[in-house]
Amino acid sequence: MSRRALLGLGGGLVVGAAAAGAAGAVAVDAARTPDPAPSPADRTYPFTGAHQAGIVTPAQDRLYLAAFDVTTTDRDALVDLLRRWTVMAARMTQGLPAGPFAPASGPYDAPPDDTGEAADLPAAGLTITFGFGRSLFVGAPGATAPDADRFGLGGRLPAGLVELPHFAGDDLDPARSDGDLVVQACADDPQVAVHAVRNLSRAAFGTARIRWTQLGYGRTSSTSTAQRTPRNLFGFKDGTANLKAEETADVETHVWVPADAATEGGTDAAWLTGGTYLVARRIRMHVETWDRSSLREQEALVGRTKGEGAPLSGGTEFTEPDLDATGGDGKPLVALDSHVRLAHPTQNDGVRMLRRGYNFTDGNDALGRLDAGLLFLAFVVDPRTHFVPMQTRLSAQDGLMEYLVHTGSGLFAVPPGVPDGALPTGSDGTPVLTDDAPFIGQALFA
Ligand code: HEM
Repeated sequence: MSRRALLGLGGGLVVGAAAAGAAGAVAVDAARTPDPAPSPADRTYPFTGAHQAGIVTPAQDRLYLAAFDVTTTDRDALVDLLRRWTVMAARMTQGLPAGPFAPASGPYDAPPDDTGEAADLPAAGLTITFGFGRSLFVGAPGATAPDADRFGLGGRLPAGLVELPHFAGDDLDPARSDGDLVVQACADDPQVAVHAVRNLSRAAFGTARIRWTQLGYGRTSSTSTAQRTPRNLFGFKDGTANLKAEETADVETHVWVPADAATEGGTDAAWLTGGTYLVARRIRMHVETWDRSSLREQEALVGRTKGEGAPLSGGTEFTEPDLDATGGDGKPLVALDSHVRLAHPTQNDGVRMLRRGYNFTDGNDALGRLDAGLLFLAFVVDPRTHFVPMQTRLSAQDGLMEYLVHTGSGLFAVPPGVPDGALPTGSDGTPVLTDDAPFIGQALFA
């Protein structure tokens, strides 16, 4: 029985008990109360579709992101893993256990199919998004044959899956960077997101192992106009001018890889058409120093007010910044070194990106300072045009950089989705694993 069905049964029992205790009151309430709106925790997003979920999906509150190294050179084993991951993800995103057996059932002398910690929890809007790192195609930087092309994928490397350059101020930890595969699990309940990655990692045993992970909370972007703008750990609204799902023409231009990018650079990367790229940057924020800076300085560095998030050129949160406006002293109201000016599309050849980052707090360092910051995540059509130039400018000129250090980095090609209706289902109508089940990124291996 599914996690959701089990939950429904549990809920029924609770209502039953309440009814037995106060039958009259319940009857009156039932007559008065309109149908309850579906609880956000019960929200599910389809796993299948033209594009993967977890990109334009309204950003959930929690993230667990894991990058993996593939530990085998056996291409069939890699394909087998992706096939198993696809079915597991299709199940877990619908609130079902990872495998066909519920966590406390199945063969008694074998480990349970599902680890169980999400057994009583609803889907909580879980999305699972998969991506491939450059090293999957050409090996780690400096790799030579046969490691360089372990899976015969060198000729399928998409032109945008570059080695990111070193940016001024970077202090990247290799143990928190890169990876052959990435899994982004987002949900409104951290236990659901962690459960998903844990079960996928368990299925990868012998084929791939986790290289680095990041737990995130308090989404730092809104990706739908229906969402309120959240705040990052500097206390500022983040996501005001983000690319939103409703801006369909701009999403088409700035997020999804077009068909004509397929042969750029002389490789065959048609498999990525309709996909995108995920840029991940673990950015530590020196919050202690920030907290000692004046409100005037904080607002000047961002270019927006801390309260409402309005541009310093005037207006309210969603007023477009007027970068030409000057104050009585003749200086620009949105300072030349402010983040919002430097990241604004007019200063970046019209570039927009779909930011989908999360706050993180990973304990403290030896000096008692929080190891806290922002896991910057952005989905872009091409990192060469949509990330590298902007990050180059920000790292050199952005006043905020005094309070930031990039400590981890990853770039992944995110294939399109598994088409609707393509996954085989069992007698109970839920996705099941078969030898020829379609899988995420299948066109890459065709
Ligand atoms: C910890 C690091 C960062 C912090 C605290 C931060 C904070 C902010 C804030 C407060 C805003 C204004 C509200 C909004 O429109 O969302 C903003 C906007 C923006 N940021 Fe960042 N950001 C960070 C890193 C980055 C990085 C690494 C990039 C890209 C390379 C970036 C790109 C943008 C863009 C494109 C905008 C929208 C600009 C506009 O269209 O007006 N940010 N950021």
